[in-house]
Amino acid sequence: MRLLVAVVPLALAACATAYAQAPEYSQAPEYSQAPEYAQAEAEAEPYYVRHAMQTVVNPAIVAIWDVGNNAMNEDGGLDPELMGDEQWSALATAAGTLAAEGERMAAAKGPIRAASPGNMTTEEFEISMEDVQGFLDDDPQGFRTMGGEFAQLARMLESAAVTRDIDTASDLVAGMDVSCSVCHAQFWYAEAQ
Ligand code: HEC
Repeated sequence: MRLLVAVVPLALAACATAYAQAPEYSQAPEYSQAPEYAQAEAEAEPYYVRHAMQTVVNPAIVAIWDVGNNAMNEDGGLDPELMGDEQWSALATAAGTLAAEGERMAAAKGPIRAASPGNMTTEEFEISMEDVQGFLDDDPQGFRTMGGEFAQLARMLESAAVTRDIDTASDLVAGMDVSCSVCHAQFWYAEAQ
């Protein structure tokens, strides 16, 4: 569908050039605007959500939870006694990785794809990548916005880890999965709602 959107206005643009004198062509606003936008999107790299989740986002949150689980105090927060240089630095690095990926989501200029063609297989009990694509196509801007919010939260965790602000870091380690769920509820297991 997107391919058609990209190709048709370009073909019309070619016609418009050939009939450059005809006022009805040069004045038609939909033809003068569309090719640039369609071309920009067609040329930008797609953002592959599943690849990002599997190779970047999930490993980074696992690293964060590892730190959290190994340094947990009785209240479920981070125990300052158990947070050494290594733990703080692991936390900062993983949070920075999450933030950078969220910023990539927010800035995605090309089409947002659930998965690459070779990575579409799901278990029977899972939501299919075709369904996920449908949810993404319904609201690509919502995906970018949530990616940006996720990035902000992850940047806050990163700076709390850098400044060793244990209260903020404790809250964010515990709360990070909420921002995962917010996006998943709209774009992944939306049907199950
Ligand atoms: C801005 C939206 C968004 C955010 C934020 C987000 N995800 Fe996802 N995630 C998705 C979408 C869409 C899918 C469904 C496509 C897929 O299966 O990869 C998904 C799928 C996944 C999957 C399944 C990957 C697979 O094998 O199919 C995992 C694991 C995952 N996310 C982990 C996370 C974690 C952990 C976080 C938070 C630290 C997170 N995600 C934040 C959108 C998001």
